[in-house]
Amino acid sequence: MSNPATGVSSKLLLSIGIGVGVTAVSGASYLYYKYWKENTIPEQWQRVGTLEMLEFFPIKSCAPLKFPEGTELECEVLGLRYEGCRDRALMLVDKDDVMITARGYPKMVLINSRLVTPTKLEINAPGMETLELDFKKLIEEAPGRDIHTAVFGAKLDAMLCGEKYEKWFSQFILGQESGLKLVYHPYQEPLKPIDKDLAKEPHIKKSDTGAFADATSYMMMNLSSVDDLNKRLPRPIKPIQFRGGFYLKMDKNEPYAEDSYDWVKVGTEAVFRKVAPCRRCILPNINPETGERDPENNPLKTLKTYRCFENNPSPVLGIHLGLRQGGKIKRGDVIYVGVQK
Ligand SMILES: *[C@@H]1O[C@H](CO)[C@@H](O)[C@H](O)[C@H]1NC(C)=O
Repeated sequence: MSNPATGVSSKLLLSIGIGVGVTAVSGASYLYYKYWKENTIPEQWQRVGTLEMLEFFPIKSCAPLKFPEGTELECEVLGLRYEGCRDRALMLVDKDDVMITARGYPKMVLINSRLVTPTKLEINAPGMETLELDFKKLIEEAPGRDIHTAVFGAKLDAMLCGEKYEKWFSQFILGQESGLKLVYHPYQEPLKPIDKDLAKEPHIKKSDTGAFADATSYMMMNLSSVDDLNKRLPRPIKPIQFRGGFYLKMDKNEPYAEDSYDWVKVGTEAVFRKVAPCRRCILPNINPETGERDPENNPLKTLKTYRCFENNPSPVLGIHLGLRQGGKIKRGDVIYVGVQK
């Protein structure tokens, strides 16, 4: 029996089919093995330094939470959590429900907060009365309206916090009674779709996106890299301007092959996969003490002179991490990188 179109016998077609199939199976199992190896938590770790600073931001673009020295934070899929308060689970949107950040409203970095009970946040800003937000009450009393919003194009629904917050934040940021709304991420799991470009990274997972974080739930800065940057700047900047969660202080300042490790462990429990480099926007140009933009467009301008790769105009500093094993961490914990066999 011949195939009328090609004249190739079906038997031959069948054997070609089997051959392709076998190659595909062994190819697939090799790929699977490679995937498995690359995604399995290493057994050996090498100490590289300590967690010199640990920060998290209850309200996106605002100042980090103040917490007592020695406080243990929980690393969870959504990001860092301290009692009832999560990293970037609150954010501000304008009257059209569009996210606003300190890039457009630099004064936001002056809004600070601390947790006064396991669920109650106290929010302060220069010249403003203290504002209280109880996460538990919020769920019970919030107006119950869904706000359809997005974080850099990644759409998600958020919970409206209410008029009291609208007034306070509009007053401080815009100098008027309304215009801005505070919204909350009440879910226990990440719902924000992954950024288009980040989705191309081979080791990123759908669940690495955090609550209202720009890109991923965890980011680590290397303080030696910030020191190196500061040597090139006319006015030094503070590491916090990069708004990372973890700040690594290296044991020795000897060069360590930055790209040769894929895994990071903080303390004894929490394990992270390096998922992407962190590309920088203008936010680090905002001074966290004055809420003003740098007149010379630094540090971004300087970073662009030596930290741009692969024709991408955004310079790289810091790495995005995906949580692969949860756990408690605190300032001063040892940081390890995975040793691949
Ligand atoms: C930290 O930064 C320094 C200076 O850029 C670099 O030599 C070192 O390899 C970095 N360490 C890690 C673990 O990335």
